[in-house]
Amino acid sequence: MMKYLSLGVLVLQTTSLVLTMRYSRTLKDDGPRYLASSAVVSTEVIKILVCTVLVYIENNFSAQAMKQLLKEEFVSRPRETLKLAIPALIYTLQNNLLYVALSNLDAATYQVTYQLKILTTALFSVSMLGRRLGFYQWFSLLVLMAGVILVQWPTVSEGDSEQKVLSASAQFVGVMAVLIACLSSGFAGVYFEKILKETKQSVWVRNIQLGLFGFAFASLGMLGYDGRRVAEFGMFQGYNWIACTVVLLQALGGLVIAVVIKYADNILKGFATSLSIIMSMLISYFLLEDFHPSGVFFSGATLVLAATFMYGYEHKPANGDAVKV
Ligand code: C5P
Repeated sequence: MMKYLSLGVLVLQTTSLVLTMRYSRTLKDDGPRYLASSAVVSTEVIKILVCTVLVYIENNFSAQAMKQLLKEEFVSRPRETLKLAIPALIYTLQNNLLYVALSNLDAATYQVTYQLKILTTALFSVSMLGRRLGFYQWFSLLVLMAGVILVQWPTVSEGDSEQKVLSASAQFVGVMAVLIACLSSGFAGVYFEKILKETKQSVWVRNIQLGLFGFAFASLGMLGYDGRRVAEFGMFQGYNWIACTVVLLQALGGLVIAVVIKYADNILKGFATSLSIIMSMLISYFLLEDFHPSGVFFSGATLVLAATFMYGYEHKPANGDAVKV
């Protein structure tokens, strides 16, 4: 139940985040645009606050029990806590890179290229978790890639409403940012999954640890990269409603991803984002009426759905996962 609910929420969250983030980075507004590095810091703060409330609820609304638990985790097991610095550093880099990507690429190109993370995730799951994928699972990964490419094809080649002549260098910067993000997403996701499934601690406690390191790294990044602008106009310059929506959606995404990693796994997470591509296309068609699906789109969509079914069919429930450590 949690598995499918979280995957469903992830589909909705990914769809809305990509569209609003792209919109927020291209919106022409008076005054300075919000700093991506500051948005990453704000997202971490929100995630830490929400996770603290969730730990409080998990501990039957007892502040005492929560304090005790956090103290035990942070003070008595510093090595466990320190382990989370690695994915936190990588995610901070990745979260900043995604803004770079969406400032330089259109949403469609970004989404299709970022799907390569399914492959990097599968490779890291096999090498780091010792996960075995059956023939159908490998095959479904190939079918998924083919489907995603077909789905994207018409939009990419025909261009959409925000048709723009992007300079070759912007395109290069954007694609490089996505490619590095694919590597980091695969590695950090699997690393977090390994920590989560090796130890018994609640996912929300782990997320507070991840968030605190993330906050520290993201703040250093903001001060290092945008320090002068922060000193001049403040950290929250250019925060309009759309920037706030992006920050909230990004925070929601992080929380849902943590649940998906716990109840399903990282590879299944990749399939949820594929479904979200189809969903953005459907929204464009039915609501925005700026997209006319072709036969190629339908074949691609069918392949993606078939691949999702094929992967899930062979997949054992999360608690039955053979995780060799
Ligand atoms: O694209 P990908 O699925 O790798 O995105 C992962 C996102 O989820 C990152 O923004 C990361 O900061 C966030 N995350 C989180 N908590 C986790 C795992 C990931 O906030 N436990």
